[in-house]
Amino acid sequence: MSELADTDPTQVRVELGARSYDILIGSRLLDSLGAEIVARYGKVRAGIVSDSTVAPLYRARIEASLTQAGIAPVFFEIAAGESSKCLSVFETLVEDVVGARLERGDVLIALGGGVVGDLTGYVAASVRRGIGFVQVPTSLLAQVDSSVGGKTGINSSHGKNLIGAFYQPGLVLADTDTLSTLSPRELRAGYAEVAKYGLIDDPDFFVWLEQNHTAMLTQGDVSARIHAIARSCRAKARIVSEDEQEHGKRALLNLGHTFGHALEGATGYSDRLVHGEGVAIGMVLAHQFSAYMNLCSPDDGARVKAHLQAVGLPTSVGDIAGDAPDTATLLRFIGQDKKVQRGTLTFILTRGIGEAFVSNDVPSSAVEDFLRQTLEG
Ligand code: NAD
Ligand code: GLY
Repeated sequence: MSELADTDPTQVRVELGARSYDILIGSRLLDSLGAEIVARYGKVRAGIVSDSTVAPLYRARIEASLTQAGIAPVFFEIAAGESSKCLSVFETLVEDVVGARLERGDVLIALGGGVVGDLTGYVAASVRRGIGFVQVPTSLLAQVDSSVGGKTGINSSHGKNLIGAFYQPGLVLADTDTLSTLSPRELRAGYAEVAKYGLIDDPDFFVWLEQNHTAMLTQGDVSARIHAIARSCRAKARIVSEDEQEHGKRALLNLGHTFGHALEGATGYSDRLVHGEGVAIGMVLAHQFSAYMNLCSPDDGARVKAHLQAVGLPTSVGDIAGDAPDTATLLRFIGQDKKVQRGTLTFILTRGIGEAFVSNDVPSSAVEDFLRQTLEG
C-alpha cells in the first residue's frame, strides 16, 4: 500500500482468476494512484480520460501522482454528461488514444463518474484489442457500481448500453474525498445503487441504511461512507465473481433497471432524470410490480418508497419534471432493454426486502397491465 494515504485503504478483491483485481477505498487515495499503478503494471505509459467537470478538479493531482511515480501521462477530455456515451465520442477517443501510441502493456485511466468509466473501458477494450484499464471513480454511483465488474460500453439510438464489451479493470481506486465536490443530486442518485444491494440480498444492510443515510449523505461521515461503499463493492464483487458475463445471478444487479432504463430513454437521457434517479423509481416500481404479481407484500414497496423519499430521491413517475412518460413509450423501451421471448420478459422481482430473484417468464401483458394501472390510475 502507498504511504501517502492517511490510513490503509479498505481493500476488496474481485476474484476472477488471472484477471482478479483490487478495489481500494478510502480517503486521500488519489495521490497514491501512480505508486499503485507502478506496483501492478510497472513504469508503463498512461492515458487519462476525464470529463469537463471532473478534470478541473482532479486532473492535476492525478498527473502529479503519476509523474512522481515516473509515468508521463497523456490527457484526453470529453464533455460531461450521458450524451458523451455515444459512437462519435467513442470514435474520437479511440483515434486519439491510438494516435498517442498507447500500447497493449500501457494503461488508460478513467477519472470520473460512470459515463467516463463506461466509455473509457470500452475504448481500452477496443484499442489494439485491449490495453490496460484502471478505474478512478469519482461519483458515488461509480464507486459502488459502475467501476466494478467490467461492464463497459456506450448508448445506441435504440437504447442504453446496447454497444459494449465485458472488460475488467486491473485496479479500481475509489477516493471517498472526491465525493465532497459531487452535487447533492448526484450523490443521492448514487445512493440508489447503494440501497439496491440491501434490496437484492442484504436486508440487514437496508436496515443500516435506513438508520445511517443522513450521516453518510448529508453529514458526509467518512467512516459511514467507507462502510457503505465497501459493503456495496463486496456485494458486487461476490456476484461478478460467480457470474461475470450475466448468464444468471448477475442479472440481480439490474434490480429496478428495466423500469429505470425505460424512464431514462423516455426522458431522452436528459437532465430530467439521471441514471440513479431512474433506478430509484425503478426499484419502487419493481417492488410494487412484485406485489401486483402477489410475490411480496405491498408494505415492502411502501417501505422502499419511504426510505428513498427520506433520502430525497424521486420515487414515482409523477416526480419526474415535465410531461410524464406514457405506458406505450415505456413498453417500447422495455422491449428494447429486455428481449421479449414468446410473450415473456426477464425481470428482477422480489419476495420481500433483500429477497430479489431473476424471473425469466414474466408475461409482457402483466407488465403492460401493471404500468397502465400505475400510470393511468
Ligand atoms: P456521470 O459520469 O455522468 O457523473 C454524474 C455527474 O457528476 C457528471 O456531470 C460528472 O461530471 C459529475 N461528477 C462526477 N464526479 C464528480 C466529482 N467528484 N465532483 C463533481 N462532479 C462530479 O454519471 P454517474 O452517475 O457517475 O454514472 C452513470 C452512468 O454509469 C450511466 O451511463 C450508467 O449507464 C452507467 N452505469 C454503468 C454501470 C456498469 O456496471 N458499467 C453500472 C451502473 C451505471
Ligand atoms: N450494474 C449492473 C451490472 O454491473 O451488472
